[in-house]
Amino acid sequence: MTEVSGFQLKRGGPEVYEASWVRAQMGRAAEDLVAAVNVAPGDRVIDVGCGTGVVARTAAELTGSAADVIGTDVSAEMVEAAAKFAAEAGYPDIVWLECDAAAIPLPDATFDVVLCQQGLQFMPDKPGAMAEMARVMKPGGRLALSVWKARSPIGAAFSTVLDREFGEGTTAPWDMVYSLGDRNRLHDLAAGAGLREAYVSFDVKFARHPSPTNFITGAIAGSPIAGTIEKLPVSEHDRLIREILEELAEFQDDYGLAVPAQCLTLTARR
Ligand SMILES: C[S@@+](CC[C@H](N)C(=O)[O-])C[C@H]1O[C@@H](n2cnc3c(N)ncnc32)[C@H](O)[C@@H]1O
Repeated sequence: MTEVSGFQLKRGGPEVYEASWVRAQMGRAAEDLVAAVNVAPGDRVIDVGCGTGVVARTAAELTGSAADVIGTDVSAEMVEAAAKFAAEAGYPDIVWLECDAAAIPLPDATFDVVLCQQGLQFMPDKPGAMAEMARVMKPGGRLALSVWKARSPIGAAFSTVLDREFGEGTTAPWDMVYSLGDRNRLHDLAAGAGLREAYVSFDVKFARHPSPTNFITGAIAGSPIAGTIEKLPVSEHDRLIREILEELAEFQDDYGLAVPAQCLTLTARR
């Protein structure tokens, strides 16, 4: 993967998301997600809320045919970046589609597998998005969808340092990240979409990054307070990064940062 310079890290966007979160955490989590529903050769797969496309790429490795995999996201910027990263990774045939998860412009009963990694909590119309995921699934098709269960130590470190610096509530918009971390709500959403055999499993994903400073810089640049941070003089910016890393000191090992995050994964069938 292309190394990201300090300048790019501070600018945010899909390049930084890919270089920080995908490299540190979402890539390994995507492997867990496809394993949860045994994505296999011959499966037609849709990745909803695909972001920079790591789940779609991971699925394409298993289906044997990248053309059988579609990634969708409401953000044109993400879809464009996903296409670029997939081509670079050797999957130019994955199909990318810009659309709201609550209005997927594809026919009923098209996919064997629907995947959605850390996307549903950000979608305003959650029942609508679940209904669409169920609609495009073939009868007997499989769903695997993950959400964060609780604020991770990274979120807590950001809150401590950035709320202290900029005022109480500064990092509140970030609470959306784990706003759907409730097993009962996931069950209700699955039932509301007519899905069966719904199970929610709990586990912990690690954000592992060999360069903690780059990772935290990128994570901030991709956050809701990126605009505030961007305006700071370099010395102030770097001080805040240092303070956040101090909060995370117990999660540093000899390889860098290794920070746990609690995750819920819903699997179900149509
Ligand atoms: C945290 S990212 C996860 C991206 C990717 N699934 C991954 O694992 O790296 C959440 C994604 O959900 C997308 N998203 C938010 N609301 C959406 C909606 N209504 N429909 C489709 N995608 C949406 C965002 O644009 C973003 O790319």
